Amino acid sequence: MTAELTGYTDKLSVAPGERIRFMVSTDLPSYNSTLVRLVHGDQNPAGPGFKEELVETEIDGVRPGRRQVARTGSYVVVSDCALLSEVTSFTLQAWIWPTTPQIGEAQGLLSKWSADGSGISLALGEEGALELWLGDGAATSKFTTERTLRAREWYFAAASFHSQTGRLVLVQWQCSDWPSDPSSVSIEETVQARVSCRNSRPLLMAASSLGTDPSYSRAALGLFNGKIDSPRLFKRALTSDEIELLKRDIPPDEVAGVDLVASWDFSQDQSSAHVTDAGPHQLHGAAVNMPTRAVTGRNWTSTEADHKQVPQEYGAIHFHEDDLENAGWQPEFELSVPVGLRSGIYAARLDGEGQEDHVPFIIRPPRGATGGPILFLVPTFTYLAYANDRMEAGQSFFASQPEGKFTPDPLDLYLAQRPEFAMSLYDNPSDGSGCCYSSSLRPLVNMRPKHRHILTKGGRNLGADLYVIDWLDQKGYDYDVAADGDLHDDGLDLLGGYKVLVTGTHPEYWTAQMLAALENFLAQGGRLAYLGGNGFYWVTSVDPERPHVIECRRGMAGTRAWDSAPGECHHSTTGEMGGLWRYRGKAPNRVAGIGFAAQGWSDPAPGYTRQPGSFDRRAAFIFEGISAEETIGDFGLIYGGAAGDELDRIDFGLGTPRHTLLLASSSGHGPSISPVIEDYLQTDSSLLGRDWPNVRADMVYFETPNDGAVFSVGSICWCASLSHNGYDNNVSRITQNVLDAFSTSEKLPPNASR
Ligand SMILES: [Fe+2]
Repeated sequence: MTAELTGYTDKLSVAPGERIRFMVSTDLPSYNSTLVRLVHGDQNPAGPGFKEELVETEIDGVRPGRRQVARTGSYVVVSDCALLSEVTSFTLQAWIWPTTPQIGEAQGLLSKWSADGSGISLALGEEGALELWLGDGAATSKFTTERTLRAREWYFAAASFHSQTGRLVLVQWQCSDWPSDPSSVSIEETVQARVSCRNSRPLLMAASSLGTDPSYSRAALGLFNGKIDSPRLFKRALTSDEIELLKRDIPPDEVAGVDLVASWDFSQDQSSAHVTDAGPHQLHGAAVNMPTRAVTGRNWTSTEADHKQVPQEYGAIHFHEDDLENAGWQPEFELSVPVGLRSGIYAARLDGEGQEDHVPFIIRPPRGATGGPILFLVPTFTYLAYANDRMEAGQSFFASQPEGKFTPDPLDLYLAQRPEFAMSLYDNPSDGSGCCYSSSLRPLVNMRPKHRHILTKGGRNLGADLYVIDWLDQKGYDYDVAADGDLHDDGLDLLGGYKVLVTGTHPEYWTAQMLAALENFLAQGGRLAYLGGNGFYWVTSVDPERPHVIECRRGMAGTRAWDSAPGECHHSTTGEMGGLWRYRGKAPNRVAGIGFAAQGWSDPAPGYTRQPGSFDRRAAFIFEGISAEETIGDFGLIYGGAAGDELDRIDFGLGTPRHTLLLASSSGHGPSISPVIEDYLQTDSSLLGRDWPNVRADMVYFETPNDGAVFSVGSICWCASLSHNGYDNNVSRITQNVLDAFSTSEKLPPNASR
């Protein structure tokens, strides 16, 4: 690996007059920083090449370098206090659902443990058996059941120790209670051990102790993968009979009265990092690094699948060793965005000793200002969803391809060496569950202008959206740029001043607030130019408590990277039902006229053929200068055509407005382009080797009330064709015809259907 030089910002979008901070890590002794406006990213020699504009600001300069580390792993921390530090005799109890019991490392469950070997810890040992660790700093003792727990099964786990008598009880009981289950075991013995919890360490759940090595890339030692439900601490050694009562779910205060120290109830505050102690002493805790909440507990009956209806059945938290909410780096410099600086996609450019990085962010229009005619909405939630996706590492698709067919970008190779930068919403934590939260407070390594996507061999997401920026500049449009988060926060207030909203190439992740704003914008006469594919697809939430985090639950249907576990389709951060907008009655077709139809990445992309709707007088303005027979977009920087990557099509059954004109469709896609799974209800032999009529991109146009309108192209690749032949081509011409008509205050051509 070459020297590290990377960073992130404290926000993805900033207004003139506001400040933005830059966090940087590097091995270089020093580096230069400057502000650039990003214009074009893709370095493909067949295109315009990389373009940026230097902007002189206060961040210009040489800066000392330092290495900063990110630390993954989620756990709960409860501050030390007299009640905890005085523990000598005790009982620890919880229900647990381990996902990687045989990972080969100890995994803490409930611990007040210090690296000096003092304290208490209920843990899974290296072999995946329940263990109790006892120590006073001079001597450490570990006791084990020697029976490996089975993955993804609920267990009742308890340990008690009487410091005077040395009596120790260790119980692991598999809750399904299969007869003769070898993983259910109780141990009762008298042992020699001493305990002191006066180590000033906090009590941790899902970890054994806090690390002391500053270069360590884990947030704690002994991180646990799996769920914990209803952990408790008692200040005496309960008897076997009392432990049996806990196993039968008798409330802990009824079992132990005043000897109950704490009873943490994860069913409370499920949208939050707060962890409530429902016991008498209120030893509340905090969840670190965003473990997954709103997950089913050991008592989930499956009668209700929404945690808000039966919170008591959702008393678990799912912890992962690879969760990350905030890398927590120190800021190296900050920019006060000059008032009057044009809106755009910018980056702090960092360079030194031949290394370079761009840390991108959006400069939005001034707050409350009335905008110009065009707003380009940068799909930053899609960037976050795909941020640090580790597709190239280990996917069978790539393994099965001929060598050299897919070559990862150097940034992907760097990312592979930085597991601590965490993953995308397309990845699985090490325990095989799905990653449902993505944070912007970490290096977003593939959100870089020059990043060459492994599938498209060109720009995708940020790199592809810069095709639009470059083209808007070339054509001399007056436009502003805003981020998804701006639309989420400001709603219609952001859009109200504009005639046209232009989307990016892949606006896939939309919140309810964004969709509502778009619907209102269109109803009030706003105009939408949807210049991409697979848009408006996933229900997405912004965490109100941690607005740098988005959440997406994949649900159980749709074209998806993973399945939500049963009962875990609702978002913890907002409580809303996740999955595809289609299954909440808001298919993309309703706002865009088209919705996700097909995807594939191995074949050349074709262009579009005009359809009868393109000759309707309502659409004549779109096709000015285009002949009847010409193929539209049979060229481009990605796959050689405008209809490729992810495609959308018309579907009246899913809400495409009845008066929508089908302007053009692609055809002749290669065999690697497959229809989306949500359009098929069952498999049968007729699905093999078919010529799929639904594998196509549809270009559509329809009017909305008050002289609004929607133009959609239905393909991620569309904008990669804009620059062909010196920006003089039919993709460019059609896009220009639309924006010219949409951005004037003149009425659109007459609507024959009105
Ligand atoms: Fe997509």
